[in-house]
Amino acid sequence: MPLKKENILIVDDNFDMLEVLQRNLKSWNFHTYKASSVIEAMNILKYSPIDLLITDLQMPGINGIELIKYVEEHFPHIPKLVITGFPSVGGAIDAVKSGALDYLVKPFTTAELKKAVDRSLENREIKIHPKESAVESNSIVYAGIVGQSKEIAQLIDVIERVRNNRATVLIQGESGTGKELVARAIHYKGSFAGNPFIAVNCGAIPENLLEAELFGYVKGAFTGANETRDGFFQAANRGTIFLDEIGTAPATVQTRLLRVLQEKEVRRIGSQTSQKLNLRIIAATNANLYEMVGKGTFREDLFYRLNVVNIEVPPLRDRKKDIIPIAANLLKKYSREYNKPEMKIDGKALEILMRHSWPGNVRELENIIQRMIIMSEDSITVKDLPEYLKYPAPKENILEQSLKDFEKSHIQKVLAAVDHNKTKAAEILQIDRKTLRQKLK
Ligand SMILES: Nc1ncnc2c1ncn2[C@@H]1O[C@H](COP(=O)(O)OP(=O)(O)OP(=O)(O)O)[C@@H](O)[C@H]1O
Ligand SMILES: [Mg+2]
Repeated sequence: MPLKKENILIVDDNFDMLEVLQRNLKSWNFHTYKASSVIEAMNILKYSPIDLLITDLQMPGINGIELIKYVEEHFPHIPKLVITGFPSVGGAIDAVKSGALDYLVKPFTTAELKKAVDRSLENREIKIHPKESAVESNSIVYAGIVGQSKEIAQLIDVIERVRNNRATVLIQGESGTGKELVARAIHYKGSFAGNPFIAVNCGAIPENLLEAELFGYVKGAFTGANETRDGFFQAANRGTIFLDEIGTAPATVQTRLLRVLQEKEVRRIGSQTSQKLNLRIIAATNANLYEMVGKGTFREDLFYRLNVVNIEVPPLRDRKKDIIPIAANLLKKYSREYNKPEMKIDGKALEILMRHSWPGNVRELENIIQRMIIMSEDSITVKDLPEYLKYPAPKENILEQSLKDFEKSHIQKVLAAVDHNKTKAAEILQIDRKTLRQKLK
């Protein structure tokens, strides 16, 4: 198989880790260079064009942070991905401060590695091509956001208005609509793009650790606090902190967060002194925070503090004009990635994509396109589409269907799209679960 053009340098003193990384990267068609020390890595950098650096931090002799500083100084265009152990994120935070773009916490899955690598390489593209060209003459491409609808044009308008200030932004929208993409666009298009962008998924960090990870702690603040550590807030200073799934933050974190927002300073857990902060906070959620405020599970004062600039990313079904340009963009991207000639989708298949209601939004579209590119040889036709998209079959004449049959096929379609999650299906169909159960009988 021909090699992809991206060269990735992996640096780790642990040979098993090097092997695992190399095996995975090779299976995705990247070209790899291995180094087991910083000195070795510096030599490779001198003589080979490297597109991405993946490095461990703790290594005997010169450590990974020094390597990151060296690359930052001599090869500023190379994105850096740091691999680190959990929960000792302290080192990772220093790395981020010294310019690392992204980090991956051990142990990680293959999928997480792939995502981090893609993201690092994409960030590089954002930096290299500040002026992007459109996919089609009348479609928009802006920091990876593709579209053609007036909703996307408005969204980019808001990003343009906030990108160079530090106003707090709340991004709301269904799962898979592109909230994180919008957050990254705000940061990387703004005048603070050279400073860190730190994404924290509040739902993925165990509740009892979240507070310490966010705000840092001093030695002795609690059992296990063996040293003084910065948190993500200190690390993101001068840049952006992205608080994803903010609706899952427990009450203690909400209270502390409110204080940070009010006072614009952060205090490590157990500390008497606080540090001035100068950063942008972007929060995102697919939960209805307003409703949570009503139920008393989310602090009202915090909600208003976060909601200074509100961005609502509409579901894909409400901006169907974006389906074709996004699909075209994804076809290009994944054809390249899987080393296939650029694939096309035929008209009938496109029609089906346009008719689908996309409960999983752009992520669902992305998954489908990716799968089809892997599975098909040349162009994509109706037979390549997943079964659940094809209900009712396109040749069926909708005008000859009884209401009952139509209802039945519609319910099947929705169920398939949400992986047979009845609660979600009932929500989409706007009926209660009991009614859905009866209809299924
Ligand atoms: N307008 C768009 N153009 C191109 N790609 C998009 C667009 N919107 C979303 N995507 C892609 O769809 C995927 C999902 O987007 P993202 O992760 O930003 O969604 P999200 O709203 O954060 O989802 P979740 O709530 O599930 O975390 C990503 O791979 C992203 O790059
Ligand atoms: Mg997200």
